[in-house]
Amino acid sequence: MMYLDNGATSFHKPPGVYRAVSQAMLRCGNPGRGGYQAAMNAAETVYGCREAASGLFGCQPEQVVFTSNCTHGLNIAIRTLVKGGENVVVSGFEHNAVTRPLHALKANVRVAGRKLFDWDDTLTQFEKALRGGADAAVFTHVSNVFGYILPVEEMAALCRYYRVPFVIDAAQSAGTLPVNLEALGADFIAMPGHKGLLGPQGTGILLCGREPDPLICGGTGSASAQQDMPDFLPDRAEAGTLNVPGIAGLGEGLRYLRRVGIKNIFKREHRAAMACVQALERMEFRVFSGPHQAATVSFLPNTDCEEAAQLLAKQGIAVRAGLHCAPLAHGSAGTLDTGTVRVSFGHDASIQQVEAFCRAAAIL
Ligand code: ALA
Repeated sequence: MMYLDNGATSFHKPPGVYRAVSQAMLRCGNPGRGGYQAAMNAAETVYGCREAASGLFGCQPEQVVFTSNCTHGLNIAIRTLVKGGENVVVSGFEHNAVTRPLHALKANVRVAGRKLFDWDDTLTQFEKALRGGADAAVFTHVSNVFGYILPVEEMAALCRYYRVPFVIDAAQSAGTLPVNLEALGADFIAMPGHKGLLGPQGTGILLCGREPDPLICGGTGSASAQQDMPDFLPDRAEAGTLNVPGIAGLGEGLRYLRRVGIKNIFKREHRAAMACVQALERMEFRVFSGPHQAATVSFLPNTDCEEAAQLLAKQGIAVRAGLHCAPLAHGSAGTLDTGTVRVSFGHDASIQQVEAFCRAAAIL
């Protein structure tokens, strides 16, 4: 199979990730729950991953909270800042992981900036919305549908200027673009462990620039005599037994990124994505592309998008089609009725992948 659905999850992980998962299952007990060897192995594994994440994302190890995916982290973050009815500014490219929690909380959502690949529009509209009065802002770093890289440094600076607390959804950027909690001054940054960070599914990270409200309560292996959740991180947001094998694999994914360098990974993915854009344009498909694009390319085939993805799957090419859980982004791009076919490259991107994909796409 030619795997080009890295926006959904990375599928080919570095070999060390598979080894770490299986080693953890053989060697690890429950971290923080005992002084015997298997519990200590687990504690070391978990701390090692926390440290690797803190090194990559510009924060202290205790500001790294393990979650089960990016959605989980976003829910903790959003539910800390929004209790119901607040004015919340979002970009025009948010995923349901952002919009559904806000909808559930009956937030008054203001969508700011809907033009694809247009930093002027994004920043002008975002500032206007903040100036109009906002209680919080939540915005994605990279659109999961179109690969649009939003100007998050500038958006973060605007939030700091207007003193609006904010959350960044780094679902599609962590592992391929710089993400630094301290430099951005974010209240929270949520990311999956299983996409660009190359860990297993069931893992995620929430970087905490402030104390979160617990989403669930329970045992933490600390302050056990008290009934309130601990008031310190990461325990405050990590009730229940952690996914130790997953975290072990994630730790290896992070160490791989450090060795290879996220700049090099981005360069490789981006080169493939741009070659893919050019080839699709030569085939006269409508391709969504522009400046500030990551390694995700959406296009419209001549057939129905879901059917096109099925045809590609029959030829051994894995892509995603439809609305990609992001109706807001499709509304912004004018593709709500059709959806798109999405090709998303990963750390193993190559020109051979692009060529194979384009040979298959010629029939669409
Ligand atoms: N949010 C993931 C995607 O874009 C699952 O495919």
